[in-house]
Amino acid sequence: KLMKVFLTRRIPPEGMKILSAAGVCEVSLWDSDEPVQRADLLKGVQGAHGLLCLLSDKIDAEVLDAAGPNLKVISTLSVGYDHLALDEIKKRGIRVGYTPDVLTDATAELTVALLLATARRLPEGVEEVKNGGWSSWKPLWLCGYGLSGSTVGVIGLGRIGMAIARRLMPFGVKRLLYSGRTAKAHAAEVNGEFVPLDTLVSESDFIVVSCSLTPETQGMCDKAFFSKMKNTAVFVNSSRGTVVNQEDLYEALSSGQIAAAGLDVTTPEPLPTNHPLLTLKNCVVLPHIGSATYSTRGIMGALSAQNLLGGLQGTDMPSELTF
Ligand code: GLV
Ligand code: GLV
Repeated sequence: KLMKVFLTRRIPPEGMKILSAAGVCEVSLWDSDEPVQRADLLKGVQGAHGLLCLLSDKIDAEVLDAAGPNLKVISTLSVGYDHLALDEIKKRGIRVGYTPDVLTDATAELTVALLLATARRLPEGVEEVKNGGWSSWKPLWLCGYGLSGSTVGVIGLGRIGMAIARRLMPFGVKRLLYSGRTAKAHAAEVNGEFVPLDTLVSESDFIVVSCSLTPETQGMCDKAFFSKMKNTAVFVNSSRGTVVNQEDLYEALSSGQIAAAGLDVTTPEPLPTNHPLLTLKNCVVLPHIGSATYSTRGIMGALSAQNLLGGLQGTDMPSELTF
């Protein structure tokens, strides 16, 4: 008898093909590009053996209870897993698959693009060309900050943080600082100096947040944090929105406490179009597109399908989360 799986969204065709070719499960899905409503999620998971979800789906005790005792595996189409209530999942003996590594390059690339776009004011420049603000070449117009000779601080030198650091070094970065729970052996490759967070914040010209969202990092970038930054420093976050206190960030940006911020993640997502941050020229906000290349999303789709199948069949998953 075929096992039942529920997909909370249409996933890339690479993933769908793997699921149908395997012939072990009957797929039902929220057949849309828009998020599943909570009530439909609770209904859709009923009796499921497998659940394939996105980072925008909160998988908590209520969802697990709605699914019932059949549920063996949760496969998330993301590297982040802060949307999964791991303690509840563990209690029920459910396995979890995720998509690390395959999105590292794409996410690091986007983060570098966001850093440069923010520091060199690209969105403002594009806007000025379109609105007639470009009147002549002016010595101090649209000036920003460059990486050459700078100090970069990476908060969370994990897979993605390291890939970001590797890409930034060739721009002529002088010092690469990083902070986190522990020093990392791989930091040697980028001459990374492990420093306390306070040191990183006060000495960096560019701060890149690339840590996972945990109780320790939630709200970490707050008033005290921004007040220690240089007035000329640029802040970039491509991890999770709630690492940042957005009211404090707004204050730091509008008062000139810091130079600029580039965010690929916000609270909430999507960020309402009337949000105060969107009124600021020195804040560049992207719609959470770190891993959004065609090839990466295809590979993520395939990997999440393989993880799901491994969990259903009680075999190895290519990327199983240990927790
Ligand atoms: C993206 O934010 C992911 O967790 O994959
Ligand atoms: C810039 O275009 C320059 O020639 O300096």
